[in-house]
Amino acid sequence: MGAELRGVDKAYGARTVLRGLDAAFAPGRLTALSGRSGSGKSTVLRLLAGLERPDAGAVLLGDERIDDRDRSALAALRREHVAIVAQDVGLVGFLGAQENVELALAQRGVPERDARARAAVAELLAEAAARHGVTIVCATHDPLVVARADDRIAL
Ligand SMILES: Nc1ncnc2c1ncn2[C@@H]1O[C@H](COP(=O)(O)OP(=O)(O)OP(=O)(O)O)[C@@H](O)[C@H]1O
Ligand SMILES: [Mg+2]
Repeated sequence: MGAELRGVDKAYGARTVLRGLDAAFAPGRLTALSGRSGSGKSTVLRLLAGLERPDAGAVLLGDERIDDRDRSALAALRREHVAIVAQDVGLVGFLGAQENVELALAQRGVPERDARARAAVAELLAEAAARHGVTIVCATHDPLVVARADDRIAL
């Protein structure tokens, strides 16, 4: 299912992070979410996952608004429809996301050279989105990921 933000405002105390943000995330596509540190990338991910509510505007998963759901409904929604991959959590803590993916592939018997090519994170994510028709949103500072993404949203 796709996801959408419509006219979303979000502030933390006096710090306004998002103002009237409209953004759509399409199924089967990798969307890169870029912007300087503090521009609200992680905030957008938390809103899409129902971990936070907007101050104004709507958050939709598929055709349904989720910003007005209660906590247990949001938890059920996440269990069924949302996955979050943190950059700093992997199989091996001191390795980065790419090295962890390479390691996982190597353990499945994929040759090292192939594993490296496939683990070029953006490539793998875009492939996964297309193959499974899922919506993937990647918050990143990496220009290679932004370039490889199917869609781009700059905050
Ligand atoms: N729970 C919170 N309480 C107060 N301020 C917060 C909270 N969460 C985020 N902020 C502030 O909101 C702004 C946006 O934060 P956010 O984490 O979304 O940025 P980001 O684009 O993901 O940054 P980075 O590239 O460093 O990950 C920052 O100024 C941050 O300090
Ligand atoms: Mg962040």
